Amino acid sequence: MPAKSIVRALAPRHPDRPFMEQVNIGMLGGGTVGSGVYHHWRCNGALMAARLGLRLHLSRVAVKALDEPRPYEIPRAVLTTDWQAVVHDPQVRVVVELVGGTTVARTMVLEALRCGKPVVTANKALLSAHGEELFAAARRAGVNLYYEASVAGGIPIIKTLREAFVGNRITHLYGIVNGTCNYILTRMKQEGADFADVLAEAQRQGYAETPPDLDVDGHDACHKTGILASLAHGFWVRPEHIHVEGIRQVSKLDMQFAGQLGYTIKLLGIVKELPAPGGGSRRARGPRLQVSVYPALIPNTHVLASVQGVFNAVFVRGDVVGDTLFYGRGAGKDATASAVLSDLADAALDLVHGSARRVPAFVAHENHGTVVPLGEVSSRYYVRLSVVDRPGVIAKISAILGAARIGIASIIQPEGHVGEVVPLILMIHDAPNAVMDRALARIARLPVVKAPPVRFRVESLE
Ligand code: NDP
Ligand code: HSE
Repeated sequence: MPAKSIVRALAPRHPDRPFMEQVNIGMLGGGTVGSGVYHHWRCNGALMAARLGLRLHLSRVAVKALDEPRPYEIPRAVLTTDWQAVVHDPQVRVVVELVGGTTVARTMVLEALRCGKPVVTANKALLSAHGEELFAAARRAGVNLYYEASVAGGIPIIKTLREAFVGNRITHLYGIVNGTCNYILTRMKQEGADFADVLAEAQRQGYAETPPDLDVDGHDACHKTGILASLAHGFWVRPEHIHVEGIRQVSKLDMQFAGQLGYTIKLLGIVKELPAPGGGSRRARGPRLQVSVYPALIPNTHVLASVQGVFNAVFVRGDVVGDTLFYGRGAGKDATASAVLSDLADAALDLVHGSARRVPAFVAHENHGTVVPLGEVSSRYYVRLSVVDRPGVIAKISAILGAARIGIASIIQPEGHVGEVVPLILMIHDAPNAVMDRALARIARLPVVKAPPVRFRVESLE
């Protein structure tokens, strides 16, 4: 046994004893998440050392401006504005990137990997855009890339998919994966709050991305859903293959109608295995998947409907384990710090035990799957039309739907006055999205239809 290993083997496992191995960590970014990581490492570092048998030491933190106010204080002595100095510091053995974005963060991560240092990141936008390049760089460098904090804040969903569910085929995954959107939708529903006010509050709480359009237009959920789809199905799902709709079109009115019908509107990330055309074998050809992000009506009786505020939840169905649900805070300095600390522990353990490849960052499966364009996927729908209240209107609309072979499941029209513009709510049976799009375009052109139709998909989550 080499001398260093003997020293390690003999090292006592108590944090207060001097022989415990220490792994120095350089952190890039000390904002919402970075300051949270620093704070909680200070509070719980000794506990972690006792559990791990090694000490993590956050020795240096690079930021943009030394005097920027931070949610938690970071001592001035460890701060620097020179991220290169942190990455190249020979004492720093693990680098954690908490800067965000896809430009400087990409350079930072690639540079750290080039230096042969394992990297921890919470940056889902970066992984979504450049995941394959970064994983390849990590492989070349013989180190690993850890990204638990990139999806669903404090919920350990990456570890679950990669390790706990390694023996499962994942047939369905539904995720409420954007805390900001869930926070906005919850407060709009519960308090009738205004969209802009709630978004401003989400920004104050540190939940929102910069800019927050990434959240409200569904892109952040798209990045996360792509990462989950990739891990579940073994091919890298690129963001341009994911159908994305955000929550800007969700109104209080639709929330009320949805509620009357027994539904709640949630922004969902969906990864669903579709049947092979003609009943062919999935194993031979790789999975055909629906991968999408959109606000959907889900039954009030489903557990996902009760996920409120900044909380996230991911429902996963595996062919062996059955239905599972993971729930927790999806954003914010504390919950996200928990995931980063977990990755730092893994990175340090892998480094010290020489097991960088124990759980590879990402491995492609042999049978490359495909993402089916949403137009070809069938959904159920909620449609709200603004129509003139006059005889024959429903007949005109149902004629268009009937000609497209689209079935109406139910109709609600609140009582109004003849000649007034009133809402007409249609619940529609399963129909391919492209067929529904064409029918809605025809309906929108009817003279009795006075505003663009509002359409949400309905997910029964069965
Ligand atoms: P913040 O904007 O709060 O923090 C960014 C940090 O990066 C700041 O400390 C900033 O410095 C620093 N920084 C910016 N440019 C540079 C640079 N060139 N060199 C060194 N430091 C730099 O972002 P968050 O903490 O909210 O997010 C960080 C990452 O975590 C993002 O990828 C985000 O998507 C992800 N994430 C965020 C969550 C959240 O709830 N906020 C949850 C999960 C993931 P300074 O402080 O001086 O401005
Ligand atoms: N802006 C993200 C959200 C942060 O609101 O979910 C957590 O990834």
